[in-house]
Amino acid sequence: MNKPKPSLQEKQFDDKAVIISKTDLRGKILYGNRIFIELSGYTERELLGQPHNIVRHPDMPKVIFKFLWDYVSSGKEIVAYVKNLSKDGSYYWVKAFVTPSFSGKGEIVGYHSIRLKPTEQAKQTMGTLYKELVNLEQSGGIQKSQERLEQILAQKGVRYEEFILSL
Ligand SMILES: Cc1cc2nc3c(=O)[nH]c(=O)nc-3n(C[C@H](O)[C@H](O)[C@H](O)COP(=O)(O)O)c2cc1C
Repeated sequence: MNKPKPSLQEKQFDDKAVIISKTDLRGKILYGNRIFIELSGYTERELLGQPHNIVRHPDMPKVIFKFLWDYVSSGKEIVAYVKNLSKDGSYYWVKAFVTPSFSGKGEIVGYHSIRLKPTEQAKQTMGTLYKELVNLEQSGGIQKSQERLEQILAQKGVRYEEFILSL
């Protein structure tokens, strides 16, 4: 499927919406709830079985997904602000709580993400930070953006989780 061309149009959704998707171990979409499907702009058939980067927006820094995968594949949950791309080119921001799903034996069998609507303030803060990180990635790769993110956290004296939850 061709990647949509991003526009400046923001997709609106209800303040109380809870946007859910589940993936297998490699990040292929196994399930999306109604609002997830609606916001993506794809049909359920188009989404299921696709890698989750089908809604990846080019404004998202790679380092955030590196953090996400490092956390969840080691059994931890992570909260991340994510700007997603819809099929029609519009975008929507979410505050995503991504967690591993465990079998009865404690093995990771997949992942799921539960997303809420972020505040305007959080979108602004993360939008500005992500712009800087994407620029660094374009010139110096993910190593540069990771260093910068770690530097910002060190300056604030907080861990990634604390920073995200403070927004
Ligand atoms: C449960 C789960 C939910 C995810 N949700 C999103 C999402 O909403 N948007 C997104 O761009 N990536 C999401 N990802 C991350 C993607 O799998 C992928 O790492 C990311 O889009 C970067 O894509 P790339 O492979 O092109 O670098 C999710 C991953 C998991 C495990």
